[in-house]
Amino acid sequence: MLPTLHSAIRRNLLRWYKNNKRDLPWRGTRDPYAVWISETMLQQTQVNTVIPYYEKFMSRFPGVDELARAPLPKVLRLWSGLGYYRRAENLRQAAQQIVRLHDGEIPRDFAQLRALAGIGDYTAGALLSIAFGKPYPAIDGNARRVLGRVLRITSEPALRAAAEELISRSQPGEFNQALMDLGATICTPKNQRCADCPINSLCASRSRPHAPSTLGSRRPLTFKNVVWPLAIVRHRGKILLRRRATNGLLAGLWELPGNELNGKQSLAALFGNELKGAQLSFTRPEKLGEIRHAITHRRIWAPVYLLDLTGNSRARVPLAGWRWIAPENLQELATSSMTVKALAIFSNHEKNLR
Ligand code: ADE
Repeated sequence: MLPTLHSAIRRNLLRWYKNNKRDLPWRGTRDPYAVWISETMLQQTQVNTVIPYYEKFMSRFPGVDELARAPLPKVLRLWSGLGYYRRAENLRQAAQQIVRLHDGEIPRDFAQLRALAGIGDYTAGALLSIAFGKPYPAIDGNARRVLGRVLRITSEPALRAAAEELISRSQPGEFNQALMDLGATICTPKNQRCADCPINSLCASRSRPHAPSTLGSRRPLTFKNVVWPLAIVRHRGKILLRRRATNGLLAGLWELPGNELNGKQSLAALFGNELKGAQLSFTRPEKLGEIRHAITHRRIWAPVYLLDLTGNSRARVPLAGWRWIAPENLQELATSSMTVKALAIFSNHEKNLR
C-alpha cells in the first residue's frame, strides 16, 4: 500500500483521537496492570457495563500481588454479572504466574505475555501498545470492522498484516484505541456516519456507503435457541442455590437449579432430576414469569417457577455445593446473570403479595 496513504490515515486518526477520545477511567494511566484488567473486561462486554466493574475491581485488587493472593470466590463475586467468568479465573491464574515466573512484573515481551493464562493476541497487543508503547496491533471487533472497511480487506491474516504496517510507531496505544473509538462511535456496524469520519477521504468503502458490517468480522454468530426452566425453591424465607463446577461454563458461580429442557421431558421430571442431589420433595411449580438471556452461543428462554418444600421434607442440604440463603444475603455469593434476573422476578412477585 502507498506509504503516503498510510501516513495520512495514521495522522488523521491520531488527530481525531486526541480531540475526540472517550473519557474512560483506564485512560488516565499506563499502568500495565490497569490496562490488562480493563482490556480483559472489555472483551465481549460494552464499555458502559465495564466501568463500574473496573473501578470496583481496581480498588479491591489494586495490583498483581493482591490478585494473585485472592481466593477465587472473591474474584468471581466482583465479576458477578459481567459474564464470561473464565476471564476472571484466568486473570487470577495469570497473576499467580506473573508472581512465580516474573517477580510480579507484567512482562513486556509478546511471547511471554501470550504464555500467560487467558492472554491472546488481542490482550498482548493492547498491553504492549497502550502500556509499553510498542507497535503491536490490538484488533478487537471495532478495529476489525474499521480496518476491513477502510482497506477493503476481509481475511484475518491480511487484516493483521495491514494493521502491523499501518500502526503508528510513535503512538501505537493511541492508534489502536483510535480505531476502537472510531468503530464504537462513527464507523458503527449499521448507520455509519461517514460524513463525520476523519478518514472518509481515504476510505476504500467511501463510495459504497452501505459497506457490509460483516466485512472484517471474524465469523457470523449462530445461536441455538434453548428453553431453560429455573426453580426458586423456597423454605422459611430462604432460597436454594447450588454451585456450578469449578471448570467449564460459568465455573464456580452460584445458580438456581434448572437446566436445558429437552423436547420430551416434563417440567416435573426436569426439576426432579435437578433437585435429586438435594433430596427434597416439593409442591407443584407455580410459574412467576420468564426471562430471556444470551450466553455464548445460546439464546435462552427461561420460565421461572416457585416451588415450596412439602411438609415432611427436611430442609437439610446434605450435599456439598448446595446452600439455603436469605434473599437479602445474596450479595455474598457470586451468582450467574441469569440467576440475578430470575431472582428479580421472584422479588417482584413477593412485593406484589405484600
Ligand atoms: N474496547 C476494548 N479496549 C478498548 C479501549 N482501550 N478503549 C475503548 N474501547 C475498547
